Amino acid sequence: MLKAVIVGAGARGNRVFAELMATQATGFETAGVVEPEPGRRQAFQDRYDVPDERAFATLEAFLEAPRFADVVFICTPDVTHYAHARAVSEKGYTILLEKPIATNLPDCLALLDVEATNRNHIFVAHVLRYSPFFRTVRDIIRSGRLGRVQHIHLTENVAHWHYAHSYVRGNWNRQETSAPIVLTKSSHDLDLLHWLMSGERVEWVLSYGALKYFRREKAPPQAAERCVACPLRDECLYSATKFYLNERDEWPFNVIASAPDTVEARRLALERGPYGRCVWHHDNDVCDEQTVLLEFEGGAHAVFGLHAHTADNTRRLRVLFDHAELEGDLREERLTISHFTGRKNERRLETVPLPATDDRWGHGGGDLALLRTLHEHLTSGGEEALVTSLRSSLTSHVLAFLAEDSRLNDNVRIPVPDIFPPGSLELPPPPTLVFEEEQRNN
Ligand SMILES: NC(=O)c1ccc[n+]([C@@H]2O[C@H](COP(=O)([O-])OP(=O)(O)OC[C@H]3O[C@@H](n4cnc5c(N)ncnc54)[C@H](O)[C@@H]3O)[C@@H](O)[C@H]2O)c1
Repeated sequence: MLKAVIVGAGARGNRVFAELMATQATGFETAGVVEPEPGRRQAFQDRYDVPDERAFATLEAFLEAPRFADVVFICTPDVTHYAHARAVSEKGYTILLEKPIATNLPDCLALLDVEATNRNHIFVAHVLRYSPFFRTVRDIIRSGRLGRVQHIHLTENVAHWHYAHSYVRGNWNRQETSAPIVLTKSSHDLDLLHWLMSGERVEWVLSYGALKYFRREKAPPQAAERCVACPLRDECLYSATKFYLNERDEWPFNVIASAPDTVEARRLALERGPYGRCVWHHDNDVCDEQTVLLEFEGGAHAVFGLHAHTADNTRRLRVLFDHAELEGDLREERLTISHFTGRKNERRLETVPLPATDDRWGHGGGDLALLRTLHEHLTSGGEEALVTSLRSSLTSHVLAFLAEDSRLNDNVRIPVPDIFPPGSLELPPPPTLVFEEEQRNN
């Protein structure tokens, strides 16, 4: 077993990673936690049996303690990622860093130096690369059996309720306190497009987008500032009282109140906190619609669309090849190929089998697969090409920042600079893990 410390015991750190470690065969065990909120920290300790001497209120306190784990999972708010990753790396830990890597490009690139200087690894939680859905698509592209890729169309259907929760009322609603949505939400998608094309160079990028709907001037005339006092609260699509006041212990309902999470605590959160504010009277400023266009070196184009106004929370993909068209839906775990026949209105349909996954978090099984792959990689070096190293994840961030530049500058076409010289995508040599030290000492 590898020992992991969770920094940030929120939705990702607690409900996804620690939960998976406790309930599934991942090869990891939770050895410690860093969480400033006392109620959350205690609840985490109780649930995963973490003793007081391995539970910390601050990162500094954790870093002062002798090393007692192999990997640190950084699951704190976006703006803290750079400073946290830097400090944890300096202490000699291998890191799994939640995306985004950092909220500006210089900090993203600076972490490469941090990794090289400290000679330990920083992996990025671009979990969708590990999902059977996208792995299968990549295998099909790489096999060449359908010819070359002519065009990829990927859409991220955020779902209206998820958008309202996270990008109007939640942690990612403002560029200033988080980053542009094309980075915070869609670094996954830009990462996937680059990875599906086997890392082929992207020549240029262009983007359109705006915050169109969740704006003050779109509010119904009777709408109040807060849902608890709103005459429309029983009928509004975005009524916070209708959405959050229930006993469901699941995301996103269970993240709005501090522990203990009761209906009364949620009501109080709606009366006072950001999740109870009207979606048209909030202080959000990130896009609710954005399109990104990429041109690859070989001439293929990719179009990516981020959409708030969708019924489902899923990703949909179409890949056009020389001889066939592939189409799929992540949440439905569906992939089909329509082979061209040369005849009018005729196609040969192939349904691509996909292994069933536990898709509780909307990542097509990617969260669990990430943990298992990372474990295999750290203990035996396997699956190297699949692991989302800092270097291989950085291109997505460069594309996101350039897309945002394009959007803000009359949708200008921006050439993508070569950030890595050829051959520089190799990982640094593996670090020594605590469990190896223990084996040597025994
Ligand atoms: N990979 C993915 O698909 C994916 C999905 C969702 C979120 N994320 C990212 O994961 C990260 C965490 O998101 P979340 O939804 O779990 O947020 P969250 O708000 O639920 O959890 C963050 C936790 O960090 C704690 N925290 C804040 N400052 C801290 C500090 N200085 N030291 C230690 N803990 C601190 C908070 O108290 C909170 O418990 C974010 O960066 C987010 O963008 C990634």
